[in-house]
Amino acid sequence: MKIGFIGFGIMGSAMAANLAKEGYHLLVHNRTKDKVEPLLKNNVAWKGSPAELAAEVDIVFTMLSTPEVVYDISCGEDGFLAAIKPGSIWVDCSTVNPSFSSQMAQRCREHAVGFLDAPVSGSKIPAERGELLFLVGGAEDHVTGCAPYFHVMGKKYVHVGGNGMGSAMKMVINLILGEAMFAFSEGMVLGEALGISQHMLFDVLLGSPVVAPLMALKREKMEKGNYSPEFPLQWVQKDLHLAAQTAFEQGVSLPGVNVVKEIYALAKRRGFAQSDLSAIYKFLKEQSGPS
Ligand SMILES: NC(=O)c1ccc[n+]([C@@H]2O[C@H](COP(=O)([O-])OP(=O)(O)OC[C@H]3O[C@@H](n4cnc5c(N)ncnc54)[C@H](OP(=O)(O)O)[C@@H]3O)[C@@H](O)[C@H]2O)c1
Repeated sequence: MKIGFIGFGIMGSAMAANLAKEGYHLLVHNRTKDKVEPLLKNNVAWKGSPAELAAEVDIVFTMLSTPEVVYDISCGEDGFLAAIKPGSIWVDCSTVNPSFSSQMAQRCREHAVGFLDAPVSGSKIPAERGELLFLVGGAEDHVTGCAPYFHVMGKKYVHVGGNGMGSAMKMVINLILGEAMFAFSEGMVLGEALGISQHMLFDVLLGSPVVAPLMALKREKMEKGNYSPEFPLQWVQKDLHLAAQTAFEQGVSLPGVNVVKEIYALAKRRGFAQSDLSAIYKFLKEQSGPS
């Protein structure tokens, strides 16, 4: 079984490395070749384009930034769907909106190719440790066929439903993630303005049921002011945008998402795009905290 992997950012690099470590034969491609170099060994070979890669494999994993990029790599000029063998499977692990995943599933049907939307919950460190949670949408037999790979890259997978449903679950999770990180940061800014030490705030809040467990993982970054990216802030804004778009498509109103999305947009414009999402705290402190 030959596997193709496209997208060697923070997440894709770690996921592909785990497949390679397990001994799978991988063909790989990324826009920036430098990021792939450390992995190019006996069982991992570089391919010059997505189409060249897809022509030789039975399964293609993608871990790319946005729906626009996923579309370009799969359906654009030199996209891999024109080259992929009928009967192969494409597993898209990128965080995209559910209607986009359904659209990609339809494209795959036209090429007699299987499709799974399989975004992941978990960030850089769970990806490195092979502890991601895969949220999967698609046909049962495709899910079962891909289960061994999910088990190498993750600790668990959940088959949420048909195509689009993995992305649907991911939208819900990241909506909560983006809003929770923002709410926690606002609480910290107010607490510090009131004269409570940052240390005391962390100690009390992290033991409180109102705070998401994620915040404990962000404590060190926020205390040290080191916002090296695990989950880049620009992708949180992207996910809130996709959640807002999905709400529009579903005819539901999500006022909070739209407000919080715009605050991340401001932080992005102020230079925090590539910082970890927890840098929203630094942004809020700079904008509205005590001088
Ligand atoms: N980081 C996390 O904690 C996390 C957790 C769960 C899900 N996700 C999701 O997983 C996906 C990847 O996230 P990441 O953190 O790994 O992002 P990342 O480090 O920014 O990597 C993005 C990937 O997309 C590629 N890419 C971007 N623009 C492109 C273009 N115009 N043409 C071709 N390739 C392009 C990048 O190629 P280059 O290397 O050439 O830039 C890279 O391979 C996103 O959808 C994100 O929302 C992230």
